[in-house]
Amino acid sequence: PNRPPVVFHWIPVFGSAVSYGMDPYKFFEENRKKFGDVYTFVLLGRTMTVALGPQGNDFVLNAKLSDVSAEDAYHDLTTPVFGNGVIYDCPNHRLMEQKKFAKSALTVPAFRTYVPIIIEEVRKYWLKSPQFFGGNPNRASANAHLMTAMPELTIFTASRTLQGKDIRAKFDESFADLYHDLDRGFTPLHFVFPHIPIPATFRRNAAQKKVSDTYMAVIRDRRQRSDFSEFDVINTFLKEAIYKDGVRMTDREIANMQIGILMGGQHTSAATSTWALLHLAADTELREALYREQIEVCGEDLPDLTYENLQNMPLLNYTIRETLRMHPPLHSLMRRVRSDLAIEGTRYVVPKGHYVLAAPGVPMIDSKYFKEPATFRPSRWAEAKNEINLEDSGEVTTVSKGAKSPYLPFGAGRHRCVGEQFAYVQLGTILAMFVREFTWTLPDGSGVPKPDYSSMVTLPSEPTNIIWTRRKV
Ligand code: HEM
Repeated sequence: PNRPPVVFHWIPVFGSAVSYGMDPYKFFEENRKKFGDVYTFVLLGRTMTVALGPQGNDFVLNAKLSDVSAEDAYHDLTTPVFGNGVIYDCPNHRLMEQKKFAKSALTVPAFRTYVPIIIEEVRKYWLKSPQFFGGNPNRASANAHLMTAMPELTIFTASRTLQGKDIRAKFDESFADLYHDLDRGFTPLHFVFPHIPIPATFRRNAAQKKVSDTYMAVIRDRRQRSDFSEFDVINTFLKEAIYKDGVRMTDREIANMQIGILMGGQHTSAATSTWALLHLAADTELREALYREQIEVCGEDLPDLTYENLQNMPLLNYTIRETLRMHPPLHSLMRRVRSDLAIEGTRYVVPKGHYVLAAPGVPMIDSKYFKEPATFRPSRWAEAKNEINLEDSGEVTTVSKGAKSPYLPFGAGRHRCVGEQFAYVQLGTILAMFVREFTWTLPDGSGVPKPDYSSMVTLPSEPTNIIWTRRKV
């Protein structure tokens, strides 16, 4: 049978790890010039077939369940972090139902309650954080390190909204350190060697157990007090998590699911808000246009923002959309091939045991689909509205008709993200708060940083600082 062309490499097994790992987009592009949209490369013992472009996205993300498996690709990395019985440590039909349970918590009525909570968390954070007011409410200007601030702000707002007051309170104690330990066991190194015997791995394992036990204790406590009043994901699971075949999720599984959900939204959202703030630092005109949009929608005296206000701020939402176009947090989505898989429209067959890889970020920076793709220009989305069908990117539980969209920062098909709407609420509220409170710029002489591909999500390289000034103290 015909195999796709293979990217040349000197060292067997190791393969193209360095060039792919250093800059996957450069790697994808250079090899696309040689081979076209479909080719194979070797990555540390795995044989990966890339399928680029909207067609490739569709091929990988909407492949049949009997042909490809996400859990075979992700299990070893994620299970020691999330824990057993959930996400990629269970059959796919279980994951589909777990996502449905999560989805039923992520509704508009829930989001309405989340916006004021996020506002409160942001204010509390600014006041306390040394990156912002550092306890002095009259501080008028300072230099803030975004890759310190935004991950903290993300986890405080996500835990408070998605998991409730009791869990949020734990982040003021030891919980943040434990999540740090989980992070440090969720690296490209652990993708290759999931159980590599180094301190980070042992700490990851210990932290998983402690964090999971903490969720279980909170669950027991809520039951004891019969307090399920908050609109959070934990309560939704406690009410609804019974699979179609009558099997009930255990407390341990519900606990582990919470880790998966918080981790799924943590680095992705923190990276996105950081990139957005950096671009707005470089484009003061856009930032001021966002300020005017807030005044138009909320009124001159800028009362607290609501969920409905956010829906009426197209420029703000386009700014998030544009940030995700240029900086999708996940550059490679992988599946392991379960039975020999022909690639439609080509002569190629990918054999069982190999992997297929979608890189939705590639068409997002291709001039074939986006004019001047290297320019950060949110207003392009107002013009493009009818050209790109954004809704056509798949539903959670049904296999969608097509993922042939050039814009898929949240993936497509059965593994599509459940957190998109929440991410827009969280990012929109946080960015709107910054726009109201501050003007900000990049430190003298610096531009928007280049991407850094050395962790699991695409982050801006350091320094990620801004100089902020209060609009009024
Ligand atoms: C899946 C991106 C935020 C939970 C995915 C996938 C992508 C993605 C690309 C598909 C992965 C694949 O096909 O291999 C993003 C981005 C985010 C974001 C760009 C923010 C800007 C969130 C949030 C949550 C979340 C906030 C939780 C509330 C999930 C879950 C899955 C998923 C549960 C399903 C995994 C699966 O079915 O295999 N996300 N995500 N994500 N995401 Fe997100």
